[in-house]
Amino acid sequence: MKKIILQLFVLSLFSSAAFSQNSKTEIDEKVAELLSKMTIEEKIGQMTQITVTNFEEKGKPGVFDMVKLREAIQNYHIGSILNVPNPGAPTIQRWKEVITIINNESNKTRLKIPVLYGIDAIHGSSYTLGATLFPQQIGMAATFNTDLVKRGAEISAYETRASSIPWVFSPDLDLPRNPAWSRTWESFGEDAYLSAQMGVAMVEGFEGNDVGSKYHVASCMKHFIGYGSTTTGKDRTPSIIPERILRQYDLTIYQAAIKAGSKSIMISSGEINGTPVHASKHLITDILKKELGFQGVVVTDWKDIIYLYTRHKVAENNRDAVKTSVMAGIDMSMVPEDYTFYNDLLDLVNKGEVPVSRIDDAVSRILKMKFEVNLFENNIADLKDYPKFGSQEFIDVAYNSAAESITLLKNKNEILPLNKTGKILVTGPTANSMKSLNGGWTYTWQGENADVLAADKFTILEALQNKIGKANVLYTKGADLAIEDELEIQKAVELAKEASTIILCLGEKNYTETPGDISNLFISQSQIKLALALSKLNKPIVLVLNEGRPRLISDFEDKMNAVIQCYLPGNEGARALVDILYGDVNPSGRLTYNYPRHPNSLEKYNRKYTESLGDEEQNDDAQYEKSYSPQFEFGTGLSYTTFEYSNLRIDKPEINNTDNITVTVEVKNTGKTAGKEAVLLYLSDKVASITPEVKALKRFTKINLAPAETKTVSFTLNQKDLQFVDNDLKWVAENGTFKIQIGTLSKEFVLK
Ligand code: BGC
Repeated sequence: MKKIILQLFVLSLFSSAAFSQNSKTEIDEKVAELLSKMTIEEKIGQMTQITVTNFEEKGKPGVFDMVKLREAIQNYHIGSILNVPNPGAPTIQRWKEVITIINNESNKTRLKIPVLYGIDAIHGSSYTLGATLFPQQIGMAATFNTDLVKRGAEISAYETRASSIPWVFSPDLDLPRNPAWSRTWESFGEDAYLSAQMGVAMVEGFEGNDVGSKYHVASCMKHFIGYGSTTTGKDRTPSIIPERILRQYDLTIYQAAIKAGSKSIMISSGEINGTPVHASKHLITDILKKELGFQGVVVTDWKDIIYLYTRHKVAENNRDAVKTSVMAGIDMSMVPEDYTFYNDLLDLVNKGEVPVSRIDDAVSRILKMKFEVNLFENNIADLKDYPKFGSQEFIDVAYNSAAESITLLKNKNEILPLNKTGKILVTGPTANSMKSLNGGWTYTWQGENADVLAADKFTILEALQNKIGKANVLYTKGADLAIEDELEIQKAVELAKEASTIILCLGEKNYTETPGDISNLFISQSQIKLALALSKLNKPIVLVLNEGRPRLISDFEDKMNAVIQCYLPGNEGARALVDILYGDVNPSGRLTYNYPRHPNSLEKYNRKYTESLGDEEQNDDAQYEKSYSPQFEFGTGLSYTTFEYSNLRIDKPEINNTDNITVTVEVKNTGKTAGKEAVLLYLSDKVASITPEVKALKRFTKINLAPAETKTVSFTLNQKDLQFVDNDLKWVAENGTFKIQIGTLSKEFVLK
């Protein structure tokens, strides 16, 4: 009989950060004083967030219509403005003008409460011209290097403050369960532990020790919760997630980021089990605010209160929708294009249908954040304070991030690194595109202007020409991303005959959200045709994937000699890729999701045993189709050197329910090249009352090893690592045997 060790979930929630948030501070006093002076209209205005393009003159992109702005700030008392003025990507000088115009208006109000500006700084300060653009989050996670991720967020914070903006809608803490989802690349991949660690690193980088300093910004965790799990894989469609699962995986990511101090959170536009999250008091108030103790601002996503009645059909009209979501726990509405939220909420409060106490709670949170980011003192950047904006120092960090993210998935006969003397053909629709390198949220929402606005940066083609000389690089597009083009394929085949190696760059266009929805996970037919045509030449082909989600390549992967995933590596990505192709950088990225082989086989790496009968002894019966065979598994990532793992040790073979367990392993670079290695520790609970995962990532670190060098890596696991959420929604660990795996080594221990 197993003895079940119950660990009260609540206990772990009283983190030090949550506790200190509760203590009465100077800021709380300032908030209370200001709140006491506010009219109900001023309070509701604070809860209203409007998009900046609402204040532009008709037909004059980027030109303020001062009547509209005045109306918003003077009459509706709006508390927040978001996003980017047309035509997108202002310089820091222009941002300063924009924020000054807004600030001048708020200074004319009775209480002079500054407007809080929020922005989608997703991979760097990506709505500011000349900012440093990093790999998108999926690539940052593939570095398995939290220091690098934190540094990236610090730089992003610096450059966002240089743009006079104190609040970013990042990090994305979604846990994509369907790889077709158009925002897979905005996440840290399919593992909750990895996402939590990366999320914490970003929050720390954004907010620093003093979020009010001129070099830090408030972060906004998003999209709470379950947004990345749509059954169809299409954006903003329903998810079905039992609360047990939600707590065991998704919630842990937010819990970690809240503990790290994140100041705000954005609600998911989706529904879970039939309830839109914006209408869920259970999720927003009971779990997020009460149970997790979140003291920050809860903001809706774009138009999501309106969508409660126009799309989700859970409200009769806007008034009904406003009441539902405010009573569910929303503090700020990203309305974002009219004053329906303001008008209806005012009416609801005046008629006693929404209590003033709920409004006071929401407004206190908003004012608190305004004080914390130091908005009352310092809301316009002095550009002299930002000499490093877009500097070489920052660009180098973006380059290093790309270099550590790019993931070598296959290297048959060690065809890579390439020899600099041979002539190459580079072809494929992503070979000469800054849009494909960056993806969405780049200068504009969909990132369609990256070729023009990042024209000074290298595409893959340009980086190759720069590396080995124009004369050695043959190029033709070979295929369009969508439209089939036989003539282009023939052109590529002809050119390939003159080349010793083909670099085939395939992938996706720039996209995010609904415009990125797909109905077919396979990479486009036009690209498959190009790959198959080139493969008939019997020349070595290096497939470079430049994509936001794993588009299936099983129709031709076996004909590729090498496969390298560069995700959406940003403005410095092509240089990093080419340095890897030619061996000037040793690759060290690891895949953060299972790359599927078949469209109906979307198993995660931390699958249950019944999902992988194929690789277990049950497959003795030849009738079984091997059911678990991703094209590439989570954690895959090759190097140009070899690493040998040895001496895996644990400090105790048996532990009790309070012990930690220390795991050590030696890693040696047995090759001739220096290399970085991500060391991953997986744990398996051998038997449990809820079906256990085959394995789950519990720890990781990244080390650097010179040839012949050995390092000892040490990890400490605690009781929480042994627990799962049971059917009573409690975190429990059960006595029995656990297996630790690092590389191909494993060790077992017993919890007694
Ligand atoms: C997206 C959010 C984003 C917001 C503001 C929404 O459509 O879902 O991720 O932060 O717009 O741009």
